[in-house]
Amino acid sequence: MTRTRVRDLAEATGAEVVLKGWLYNRRSSKKFHFLLLRDGSGIVQCVVNRDEFDEQQFTEIGKIPYESAIEICGIANSDDRAPGGVEIHANSVECLCIAEEYPISKQEHGPDFLLSHRHLWLRSRKQVALMHIRDEVIRTIRDEMHARGFTCIDAPIFTPTACEGTSTLFEVDYFEDEKAYLTQSGQLYMEAAAMALGDVYCLGPTFRAEKSKTRRHLTEFWMFEPEMAFADLDDVMSLIEGLLSRIVERVLEHCREELEVLERDIEKLEKVQSPFPRITYTEAVERMNAEGHSFEWGGDLGAPDESVISSWYDSPVLVHRYPEEVKAFYMKRDPQDSRLAMGVDVLAPEGYGEIIGGGQREDDLDSLVGRIQEHGLSEEDFRWYLDLRRYGSVPHGGFGLGVERTICWLSGVDHVRECVPFPRMLYRIYP
Ligand code: 4AD
Ligand code: MG
Repeated sequence: MTRTRVRDLAEATGAEVVLKGWLYNRRSSKKFHFLLLRDGSGIVQCVVNRDEFDEQQFTEIGKIPYESAIEICGIANSDDRAPGGVEIHANSVECLCIAEEYPISKQEHGPDFLLSHRHLWLRSRKQVALMHIRDEVIRTIRDEMHARGFTCIDAPIFTPTACEGTSTLFEVDYFEDEKAYLTQSGQLYMEAAAMALGDVYCLGPTFRAEKSKTRRHLTEFWMFEPEMAFADLDDVMSLIEGLLSRIVERVLEHCREELEVLERDIEKLEKVQSPFPRITYTEAVERMNAEGHSFEWGGDLGAPDESVISSWYDSPVLVHRYPEEVKAFYMKRDPQDSRLAMGVDVLAPEGYGEIIGGGQREDDLDSLVGRIQEHGLSEEDFRWYLDLRRYGSVPHGGFGLGVERTICWLSGVDHVRECVPFPRMLYRIYP
């Protein structure tokens, strides 16, 4: 008999099935063992009736340690009270691998303990739910980009230059006569690719030597970065809105159970509706000050400021046209006001902060050279990047979506470290 996945049990009601997985939990009474089998696709209760097993077998089933690998044959009965609507009436229970005493118990553990046992913690219900949501988010991005005619272009991980400031660079000591770094962003390469293929994107790991330990910072995180030729800031904002709405829609559609496991307030997600609010940096500063949250025009928004701004809305808010000093060298200046950069940040609702940063790129050679000098960067290092402005430069733009921060908001968890399978942070490289 072939094995059935827990997620497919609803279609197998009334039939005999074989399940393979791990013992997640057990309750026992005199007459029954109620075994929870998990197989990654779901968890199902299997009822072992003493009358149908011999005495010794029944006793042994009651002693199988948690997280042992097990195989259960039985009848799939539909049962409204059971999660997923199915319960297994077990005919046989076989232990495939007896587990040693499992270090993670059902009681609360501190985050350090759990992170040190991430390889096992990943098996727990909430972590499995988070990984399913992560998978759905990434799949939605790829589906949506494909539907919109974008080509996936993988960006290199080793790079000779900084993209997002030099303070968070990871240096790699390997390449002869040349400094190399782990990439902070694939953007510059996507700009080259956009001039070759039109609309492109990359989705991969990026690295920042963040000195701060916060709920929102990883040193290795995944970024989705689309880039469009013949596009301005408005086009970038439209793509952001279309994509984020679709992500929310698909997670609500396909990850209901996961959101319930995570005790996410689903109503909050259902309130996310396009069109999303758009507000300039200057308007945001004025409103903050008017409401008594004092903020001086010109500075970058910090986490508390972002929380204030996002609290005005139910949907993600697009804050655009920041002072150029707080933004990267590649941003185009606003033709209406040269103090401003044509950049946009997206702040997630409920105080989850910035999940997207992007904008329109400087496409004029001389302005870009000037900007590189102002930022104290080496023109020589950016020779290839400047070539893009020499050979058929066109208006273009794109953005970077932080995958973990987006999942963090959608799932309603406190910390981005749970939104990536194996988090890397200032004090965390194991396991
Ligand atoms: O705003 P950032 O730095 O923008 C860029 O890197 C652009 N080059 C992207 C582009 O236009 N193609 O980063 C983009 C997003 C942030 O909004 C945030 O969601 C995420 O990446 N991010 C981080 N996520 C987790 N940990 C960190 N240390 C992060 N730094 C940025
Ligand atoms: Mg940013």
